[in-house]
Amino acid sequence: MTSTTFDIGGELTVRRLGFGAMHLMPAPAPVREASIAVARKAVALGVTLIDTAHMYSWGGNEELLAEALHPYPDELHIATKVGVSLVDGEWRYDGRPPVLRDEVDQALRRLRLDRIELLQLHRIDPDTPLADQLGVLGELRAEGKIGHIGLSEVTVDELDRARSIVEIASVQNRYNLLDREHEPVLEACEAAGIAFLPWRPVAAGNSGARAEVAAVAAELGATATQVALAWLLARSPVILPIPSTTGFDHLEENLAAARLELTPDHFDRLDLVSERG
Ligand SMILES: NC(=O)c1ccc[n+]([C@@H]2O[C@H](COP(=O)([O-])OP(=O)(O)OC[C@H]3O[C@@H](n4cnc5c(N)ncnc54)[C@H](OP(=O)(O)O)[C@@H]3O)[C@@H](O)[C@H]2O)c1
Repeated sequence: MTSTTFDIGGELTVRRLGFGAMHLMPAPAPVREASIAVARKAVALGVTLIDTAHMYSWGGNEELLAEALHPYPDELHIATKVGVSLVDGEWRYDGRPPVLRDEVDQALRRLRLDRIELLQLHRIDPDTPLADQLGVLGELRAEGKIGHIGLSEVTVDELDRARSIVEIASVQNRYNLLDREHEPVLEACEAAGIAFLPWRPVAAGNSGARAEVAAVAAELGATATQVALAWLLARSPVILPIPSTTGFDHLEENLAAARLELTPDHFDRLDLVSERG
């Protein structure tokens, strides 16, 4: 049985099945109250890693999480992302050091934290030298404003270049049972003990793939989504899925996937599905 926890950067212990807050909306009541209730329920059900971003409602998602969960339990860590900005009503990748520094300061204020334990660069800005983008994150770490640095949507080459500049604790790429484009990045993370946070972990898939996943789900008395999440947890000990939902039912269903044990036969059948899918 694989571990239910992972130490990000070798020291930040989180339960491997986390929660993505992107779909929670800082909208007026009653949507806001519903979003707050879901965030609180996630923590009540044992989530210790929540993922958000400056980009999600331009800080509104971070504020919502603070309203829902502050003061935070000791074991809870909220990871955020910077580097996608709103400029003249349009979003753009913006990794200029003063912008990253400002977005981190905004996040600290909105999340009501002295230190963000995991700060991820949402995207590498192609118009700013990588050494400048990671350099300022390294400075923020030295200043104690952030604990660990992560990346998002990177190739193996970008990960290698980043690691030659600063220590990287996590990578967040799109990856699920049926979408394994970033398999080489996952393998690089596994080799280096870097946390891999697959986004879009709730895989839909084509009808053929769905039929096989449904068959495994029926054998286990589980749902297809639970099988997809259990497969991710079984795929690699460095994988920390961050499924998102706006509903209690899906939240409970998704988090229960941590208790689902796939047999080697189930794992292999799903592995084949993903190759076809
Ligand atoms: N780094 C990046 O570039 C990036 C990009 C996108 C997302 N992310 C992060 O990754 C997290 C997850 O990504 P995601 O939201 O794109 O993908 P996801 O978690 O795979 O999918 C979320 C969608 O699936 C539905 N869903 C959740 N549980 C379900 C279940 N048990 N059965 C059926 N449907 C279910 C949700 O609808 P309901 O609300 O109806 O449950 C929602 O529409 C985000 O919250 C965000 O933190 C990162």
